[in-house]
Amino acid sequence: MSVLIAPSILSADFAALGSAIAAVERGGADLIHVDVMDGHFVPNITIGVPVVKSLRKIATVPLDVHLMIQEPDRYIDAFAEAGAAMMSVHVEVLPHLHRTVHAIKALGAKAGVVLNPSTPVASLSEIAGDVDYVLVMSVNPGFGGQTFIPRSESKVGEVRALLDQAGNRAPVEIDGGIDQQNIARVVAAGASIIVAGSAVFHTPDPERATRELKAAASGVVAPTTR
Ligand code: DX5
Ligand code: ZN
Repeated sequence: MSVLIAPSILSADFAALGSAIAAVERGGADLIHVDVMDGHFVPNITIGVPVVKSLRKIATVPLDVHLMIQEPDRYIDAFAEAGAAMMSVHVEVLPHLHRTVHAIKALGAKAGVVLNPSTPVASLSEIAGDVDYVLVMSVNPGFGGQTFIPRSESKVGEVRALLDQAGNRAPVEIDGGIDQQNIARVVAAGASIIVAGSAVFHTPDPERATRELKAAASGVVAPTTR
């Protein structure tokens, strides 16, 4: 399975999102990861539907929208209409996860479910056959630039095994603290969609950082471009 790189614009300059997206697309970004936070489920507040709508107009790759919000059911229609190709919702806030996953699919988007670091893999056992992807949080959600939680590596493998057992080839995505040092390890563990925020945008050259992460993910050393 080829590995997809999804730069998270959370660490980009919000006054220049258009050029940030163009840069990572030149670097080979496969998706743009958009972190939606509500100040309730997570302590931080970020962006909402109107921004996604604007980003859709300028991005040439699909938008991967990560909903860190308390009541995602209230907003999935609007995000789908705004142009989210993928939408992930947190297991921790959804008593009717099965309904939400199928509602996202019915809107024509890929449906992902997200596990916080303290949420067990077993919480997915009844939904593993239904999801289009699973996102493993490798930091506690809310902020960019946090340190990767080492246990996440084996957790990715456990999620992969659960999906395989359910006969579902859906990819495992990982989000939080990914950089040049650990990307190959999480890919080896079974992750095939890799989110990276600060490792891309807190560098002088996000285009190059994207290219180098992508190369490291596939075990190849990126050619030096300058
Ligand atoms: C954290 C967000 C992440 C964040 C990752 O709550 O879900 O997508 O942007 O940033 P880094 O890669 O800096 O940990
Ligand atoms: Zn995210």
